[in-house]
Amino acid sequence: MAQRVLTTRPDLPGGGLDRLATRWDLVRWNGQGKPEPAELHALAAGVSGILCLGNDRVDAALLDAAGPSLKVVALASMGFDAVDRDAAAERGVVVTHTPGVLAETTADLTFALILMARRRLGAARDSLAAGQWDMFRMGDYLGLDVHGATLGVVGYGQIGRAVARRAQGFGMRLLHHDPFAPEDTQDPPSKSVDLPTLLAEADVVSLHVPLTPETRHLIGAAELAAMKPTATLVSTSRGGVVDEDALLRALRGGVIHSAGLDVFEREPMGAELSPLVGDPHVVTLPHIGSATEATRAAMVDLAVDNVLEVLAGRSATTPLPGSAGL
Ligand code: DGY
Repeated sequence: MAQRVLTTRPDLPGGGLDRLATRWDLVRWNGQGKPEPAELHALAAGVSGILCLGNDRVDAALLDAAGPSLKVVALASMGFDAVDRDAAAERGVVVTHTPGVLAETTADLTFALILMARRRLGAARDSLAAGQWDMFRMGDYLGLDVHGATLGVVGYGQIGRAVARRAQGFGMRLLHHDPFAPEDTQDPPSKSVDLPTLLAEADVVSLHVPLTPETRHLIGAAELAAMKPTATLVSTSRGGVVDEDALLRALRGGVIHSAGLDVFEREPMGAELSPLVGDPHVVTLPHIGSATEATRAAMVDLAVDNVLEVLAGRSATTPLPGSAGL
């Protein structure tokens, strides 16, 4: 029987899937939303590859449902917190993700959040739309400057550096904290500091670490208390990196100035909104960091490359750190 590859969404953009379909038989999940685990497990039986998103749970149950034919799970996402990497490694399944192709687009959105949160653009726009702009007052709609401020990037990988490059254009001073990039660097020029120093000195703290057991609630009550009362916290990484209850208390208590969040501990929210949504000190978006047509197509394309490479017996293009086959 021809090798089969399971795809878990009907709306994967770009032409990548056509390349896959010319080489392997596709088993496509074509429902609304995303597949329930039981449905996914049934479709996975006997496939050689799975191309899925970062919010599909890749655990021992799915890997066992696919069985020994499974060689590769290719995520069309950078984040891999829904993957049981040990279970995949134990079964010799290569897991890949999509670093690189979404860094610039996600950095654009991060910078939009920085500007929106510090200049209170959401609240200003809402007040105009509500018919409350009755005259020019010197004290209305006041925010805090972005130009000349200090940016502290936590996690100085591709996205963190891309945010820092944008900050150079705003004349910002750059600090970073990253145990895996512990040196001062010229790429772009930034001083390496420990986390307490970064929290104490930065006007904007921007989070770019993956969600792992080590980074869960990296920013909690103590870290927020260590920040300046004029500081802004921005996250486009994963919601679990921030203790949201502590963040809400810090914002309401004036411990920090503002926050810009594209990611949440509970996603999606539907109509059951987090209290962070609508708080006047927070700008919130529904996890759209990489959401441009070109970037989403590039993510699918790279995931397809990874499936094709592994099923052809070659090394994956962008395997997860610690993945089988490395
Ligand atoms: C990513 O690639 O990790 C984005 O958050 C979308 O899942």
